Amino acid sequence: MRKHVTLITGASGEIGHGLIERLVARGDDIVAVDLRPLDPPIAERCAASIVGDILDENLFSRLVSEFEIHAIYHLAALLSTRSEYTPDTAHRVNVDGTLNLLRIAHEQARWHGQPVRFLFPSSIAVYGLPSRAAKAKAGRVSEEQYNTPTTMYGCNKLYCEHVGRYYALHFRQLAADRAPTGVDFRAIRFPGLISAITQPSGGTSDFAPEMLHAAAKGDPCACFVEEEARLPFMAMPDAIDALIHISMAPAQRLTRRSYNVGAFSLSAGEVRDRTLRAFPKADISFSPDVARANIVATWPADVDDSAARADWDWKPAYDADRAFDEYLAPTIRDFYRK
Ligand code: NAD
Ligand code: SER
Repeated sequence: MRKHVTLITGASGEIGHGLIERLVARGDDIVAVDLRPLDPPIAERCAASIVGDILDENLFSRLVSEFEIHAIYHLAALLSTRSEYTPDTAHRVNVDGTLNLLRIAHEQARWHGQPVRFLFPSSIAVYGLPSRAAKAKAGRVSEEQYNTPTTMYGCNKLYCEHVGRYYALHFRQLAADRAPTGVDFRAIRFPGLISAITQPSGGTSDFAPEMLHAAAKGDPCACFVEEEARLPFMAMPDAIDALIHISMAPAQRLTRRSYNVGAFSLSAGEVRDRTLRAFPKADISFSPDVARANIVATWPADVDDSAARADWDWKPAYDADRAFDEYLAPTIRDFYRK
């Protein structure tokens, strides 16, 4: 008998770190895959923790001989800034890697006869607002607007949302022996995430967490966007909650496959002010990198998440005040004190 498991790719990253704890706490057996080893205390709580590449099909062949997969949280990706430096590799990891995982989900569902939940963290990078003026005018952007990303990462995420929907609804639509694929694909378009216990790297929304972590460590921070640059953000515990919530939503309530989720919208200047309230000695300046700031200018200032609220009762626990005062500032302070 093979063990029933939940597979998490990109498990050693910022989201994986907290997600594993939450899923283990509710009794899931986790198989974690990442290029980087998991922290040993987290790895010990998993059924298996594998150091490997999602592009390695042999790795997954070996894995399914031992485990029966019922849910996949496919987190592995190259984030937006890193993807711009290596667009071909980004396409391979973000698109070919996702196809590998969708194929595995399909095969597993055929084997055990039950749907495999496929959770995909997409991003506000799927949007591409044409100018700063259009961004200011657009306000809260809904899922169907401005689907014209300007980054390789945004293109990869948007395409994978479509391929996921294809696998869920239209796979092999011309085959005589067509059967339901069993891939229950669900995507969330996350805003910039801010964790108190992990530091991001390779993203373009990183300017906010960078400021906070530098302040807590007593390091200077030169912010790479202008003070007015504005994005939607979310505290990491809410991001993990959102993934777990959407994974449990009854299929008949879902009216779409990809959902916006919002929490709060802040400019870089407002993040600086809140950071200074928590760490009054912080040394924060602004030294915009024009190219990276231009990417931020194509992402919306805020998102319309009414579909998620209506379909699966999405509601963030942390608005900006609570995120900074009750989660980020005290937890980061404690984290670096240790
Ligand atoms: P992260 O960079 O911290 O984690 C990604 C992990 O994927 C890393 O541990 C990395 O080693 C792993 N990885 C990369 N290539 C791999 C490969 N070929 N094989 C196996 N593992 C590989 O990022 P995160 O913040 O934890 O993001 C997780 C997911 O959420 C990503 O898909 C990201 O696009 C998405 N997302 C993140 C944010 C954010 O602000 N952090 C926002 C929107 C969406
Ligand atoms: N926060 C991520 C990034 O900046 C977007 O998904 O890459």
